[in-house]
Amino acid sequence: MRMINLKKTWPIAVGILLAGMMSCSKKEPAMTAERYRPRFHFTPPANWTNDPNGLVFYAGEYHLFYQHNPHGTTWGHMSWGHAVSTDLLHWEHLPIAIREYPDPATGDSTMVFSGTVVVDNNSSGLCTGPDCLVAIFTSHVHKGGAGLRQHQSLAFSNDRGRTWQLYDKNPILDIQRKDFRDPKVFWHAATSRWIMLAVVPDLFKVQFYASANLREWNLLSEFGSAGDTARIWECPDLFSLPVTNEASTSKWVLSLSGSHPQGPTYVGMQYFIGDFDGTTFTTTQTQPRYVDYGKDFYAGIVFNNVADKSIMLGWVNNWAYANDIPTGSWRGAMSLPRMLSLAQTPEGVRLKQEFWPIPDTLKMPIDWEEIFSGSFGLEATLEDGGTLELFKAETQTTQIHYENGQLSLDRLKSQPLHFHPLFSSRETVDIAGRPAAITLQVVVDQSIIEILTADGLYAITNQVFPETNGRIAINARTRIAKSWQWRQ
Ligand code: FRU
Repeated sequence: MRMINLKKTWPIAVGILLAGMMSCSKKEPAMTAERYRPRFHFTPPANWTNDPNGLVFYAGEYHLFYQHNPHGTTWGHMSWGHAVSTDLLHWEHLPIAIREYPDPATGDSTMVFSGTVVVDNNSSGLCTGPDCLVAIFTSHVHKGGAGLRQHQSLAFSNDRGRTWQLYDKNPILDIQRKDFRDPKVFWHAATSRWIMLAVVPDLFKVQFYASANLREWNLLSEFGSAGDTARIWECPDLFSLPVTNEASTSKWVLSLSGSHPQGPTYVGMQYFIGDFDGTTFTTTQTQPRYVDYGKDFYAGIVFNNVADKSIMLGWVNNWAYANDIPTGSWRGAMSLPRMLSLAQTPEGVRLKQEFWPIPDTLKMPIDWEEIFSGSFGLEATLEDGGTLELFKAETQTTQIHYENGQLSLDRLKSQPLHFHPLFSSRETVDIAGRPAAITLQVVVDQSIIEILTADGLYAITNQVFPETNGRIAINARTRIAKSWQWRQ
């Protein structure tokens, strides 16, 4: 095993904190909880987040709303936090957009669960100018912690998402069920109307609705149950993607959050490839396909109103241990944005993912002289038996390994494991065709590891919480072709 040490002459801008970490890194460095906070992945300034919500591009800004507990670092009091970005790498935190509110009829608390934001050219009649932002979210009514009803409600903003008003005729869609949630709304150009998807989680059903004005909705069709039904369905999305290696072909993709490929103890995401005629989604797919084989990619949805691109953000966590991760004053992060497309493969059409590009101006070289943990990227090629280790120190390592056509990411020896019994895990994915060597795009950001391989056909996303700084190490069957570290 070759050890690679990294030492950097850090620019002053990197700051005293990092300089301090570097200077004491030769001994066992003192690690703080803030040390786990990613640098170019979104995290809330404080407190809890789960799903990304209302992803939309509008007036030069990408908006990220997110499931947020303004009062604590565990799930509860769900409200919509808010941030904006012009490059999807740096986020400006804005005040909470939509807060938990009392139900006008009963006084019971209504939490603001997951949903969508669209740019409305005043079809709703709620815009004071030519357009405005309209949010459609699940209003989760509960008493004493027990869920009573979930329906869909509307809020609107006439000031670029800075302030929001609840629609006075909420809810806008109520099918009288305790569980009915996560509306995704988008403009369907071919039929010139709004389409909404929402799940009936316990029946493994996606319902499709249509509307001309975002306020009144008609049921069109249902999809399900199908694919993986080992765990309730949440957070549906539907988008059309090009098949990149087949001229002028595109397909519709229905994505859903539910069970993990390793079974329902963990959550994960699956997708169906098919067709959508404006009313019904159809597929010939019989086997489940998964978006990510890691333990920490959930509730992913794509941005509305981005021309020519489908960009997905997922929540980097797993309900199995989400409330216990050892991050301190904040808890939960979003993935690096991923651009989605499709590829025709010998196994059929498959989802392809590509990391949102990080410009060279935000990168600097890794100096391999120093013990190093941090925010960096690698392109590595692993032959059969190839190993790449991250955060490797005396008592810890995180191991990426390729053998017999199977790629694995092993955090069994990444520390600390004691915060939750389900955290310790090893993820695997079989690479079709068992190639002799595979090339990985690896992005590491303090406590997040994201891996894409086989031209983006497979993804593994996992959190790790190393207790000390560590090294990057490779064996003789591994080559690192490209490397960089985050400059800021
Ligand atoms: C998915 C989810 C959604 C729900 C939200 C509540 O992680 O359970 O179904 O709207 O989280 O926070």
